[in-house]
Amino acid sequence: MNYQNSLAFALEQDGLDPLKNFRSRFLIPQHQGADAVYLCGNSLGLQPASAGKYIADQLSAWQNLAVEGWFQGDDPWLNYHKQLSSSIASIVGAQESEVTVMNSLTVNLHLLMVSFYKPNGKRFKIIMEGGAFPSDQYAMESQTLFHGFDPKEAIVEIFPREGELTLRTEDIIKTINEHADELALVMFAGINYYTGQLFDMESIAAAAHKAGAYAGFDLAHAAGNVPLKLHDWGADFACWCSYKYMNSGPGGISGVFVHEKHFDNQELDRFAGWWGYREDKRFLMAPGFDAAKGADGWQVSTSPILLLALFKASMAIFDDVGGIDILRKKSVALTGYMEFLINELNRVQGEEVFKIITPANPQQRGCQLSVVCKRDAKAVFQYLADNGVIGDWREPDVIRLSPVPLYNSFQDVYQAVQHMAAAIK
Ligand SMILES: Cc1ncc(COP(=O)(O)O)c(C=O)c1O
Repeated sequence: MNYQNSLAFALEQDGLDPLKNFRSRFLIPQHQGADAVYLCGNSLGLQPASAGKYIADQLSAWQNLAVEGWFQGDDPWLNYHKQLSSSIASIVGAQESEVTVMNSLTVNLHLLMVSFYKPNGKRFKIIMEGGAFPSDQYAMESQTLFHGFDPKEAIVEIFPREGELTLRTEDIIKTINEHADELALVMFAGINYYTGQLFDMESIAAAAHKAGAYAGFDLAHAAGNVPLKLHDWGADFACWCSYKYMNSGPGGISGVFVHEKHFDNQELDRFAGWWGYREDKRFLMAPGFDAAKGADGWQVSTSPILLLALFKASMAIFDDVGGIDILRKKSVALTGYMEFLINELNRVQGEEVFKIITPANPQQRGCQLSVVCKRDAKAVFQYLADNGVIGDWREPDVIRLSPVPLYNSFQDVYQAVQHMAAAIK
């Protein structure tokens, strides 16, 4: 696309945008009587306007049916989570039976590692990206300790080369190969939370398997943001929070993927609970855990229906879009526009005041741009916030800005960069 640095161009693109009507299906935070420029879907997606109704429907079922709500009404709660499977499966590239929703992300990471981190003799190492989200680091660290290993020996982190900001796939694969004999698990983010780098999950999974290890992915920043093909890539497991690009609300329920090749794998341990028991016999309350087939067999506790209702409100919007590829097309254009405008701003300034550390190649990023501000970064961030541009701050000097194709416009992006220009004045 030939971008132009003008409001007229931004408005023209918004007029041509086939997704433009989806913005009205979200509640946009207000700033001084107008829509704020919300660029923080990487942290918390916006509230679907229908969310209240989805919750009210379930409160009403609870009021009218009480305990019978599990089995009666329009959406019996017993199988409520299954109504989400097809939407989620299509977003992450899975079969319906390979996905389920339960708990929160870090809890699910732990539960899945019970199954897929199985140190055995010499094989005890975990490879992960350096600078992973802290919760993932703590999860890996505590899992290795739990199995009696020193995290410093058991965890191999891969960092960018000297002078580079992001990882090269070749270096990831080389490290996997170097540790092949000792490797139990490769655990990577789909997109790194800090740099916004989108990793080549297919190549990472293939290299892990060649080394005889499992491959798992934390898709917190990838699910609902970029097309994924978890089944075809052969990923063993994945999990993600749904409160970012999937708009399920603060602390919303997490999604889980387990590849079907593991459904009958008797070697996998799991921490079981009654909600993972095969449904036809769950209420016999018999001793001895008999897992439901598929990812549902990893569930532990009773479905939190109100959280599921919020998630369902957002999934209905995704369904109406007609596929993650449609979102992605707009996303590439929108993020590309922000990159173009920031580069223009730097050009006019005669120096790189705002350095984008996210890869320039759209194949290696989702909608987020992580921007290092070289002049008084904290004050610039505060200026943006004061002027209704909502991004987020990551120490020591990074501002993350994520135009989300479902509800952000080219005008949002244009306004945000105008405010960035004003901020450095
Ligand atoms: C990559 C990543 N992992 C883990 C988490 C933690 O998620 P939760 O607090 O839902 O467990 C986050 C939260 O933002 C994240 O971005």
